[in-house]
Amino acid sequence: VRRAGWLALPALLLLTGVAALQVGGEARPGAPGPTGAARDDVLTIDVAGRRYWWDVWYRDPVAARNIRGANEIHIPTGRPVEIRVRDAGGSGRLRIRGLHRFPWLAGGSFTIEANRPGVYRGGAAELFRRGRPVMELLVVAHPPEQYAHWWEQQLRPAAAPTQPLAVHGQQVFLSTGCSLCHTIRGTEALAKVGPDLTHFASRRELAAGAAPNNRGYLSAWIAAPHTLKPGSFMPAIVLPGADMTALVGYLETLR
Ligand code: HEC
Repeated sequence: VRRAGWLALPALLLLTGVAALQVGGEARPGAPGPTGAARDDVLTIDVAGRRYWWDVWYRDPVAARNIRGANEIHIPTGRPVEIRVRDAGGSGRLRIRGLHRFPWLAGGSFTIEANRPGVYRGGAAELFRRGRPVMELLVVAHPPEQYAHWWEQQLRPAAAPTQPLAVHGQQVFLSTGCSLCHTIRGTEALAKVGPDLTHFASRRELAAGAAPNNRGYLSAWIAAPHTLKPGSFMPAIVLPGADMTALVGYLETLR
């Protein structure tokens, strides 16, 4: 078991596309987990590479408590977490050079465990342009109580906007096609083509590491996603300035 763990280490580093770019902690692979029923204390997270982002499902024994997220994996410290890689076809066939060679993308699974809280940088080290990595996957490790709190937070639907700007922004979101591709739980937007945006504002980065998640980049992303990430499936959407301001104001409330 020990040996298998060590063998899994280089695989994990390749998977994360980074040689341990970590803040305040250390993620290490544990014993490879079974792909079927998980052990009692093992948390199971399913991950699917999309064009060009990560769809993430957190599995709870009670199905109603499952969570869907994107582009980040949140884990508790001190507990083995089995990551099952699903539906890699989309990314494997496209310009994810070299990635599909690794067995973990071919429907495999692996187990990680973080000893200390911190943010671990991973993902497919893509080489689109100028060496900029896209399709990153951050792993955020929380102490167990904070993790339980985070889980409850993520379970909640998006709070209804109260400020006039955000109310207007929600109308823009629901009327300009965003809801054809995105889910915001608590609204009529339930599509699954793109990342779930219910708690989008709590994410650290935009579009799987394409840019920091802030107001300026968010407007730039909506108006011209391909300048930040060539080949992305997100279409450019042209909006009058006031609508864009309101839309971005609304998206910023989705904590
Ligand atoms: C045709 C489908 C489609 C439409 C329409 C669409 N999006 Fe997207 N969106 C996507 C996809 C796919 C991604 C992931 C792209 C990537 O990372 O390569 C995405 C990503 C995003 C992200 C980044 C999410 C994250 O987790 O970082 C935001 C924010 C976003 N879209 C907002 C919008 C808004 C606002 C609109 C409407 C003005 C919109 N989208 C319309 C498909 C769509």
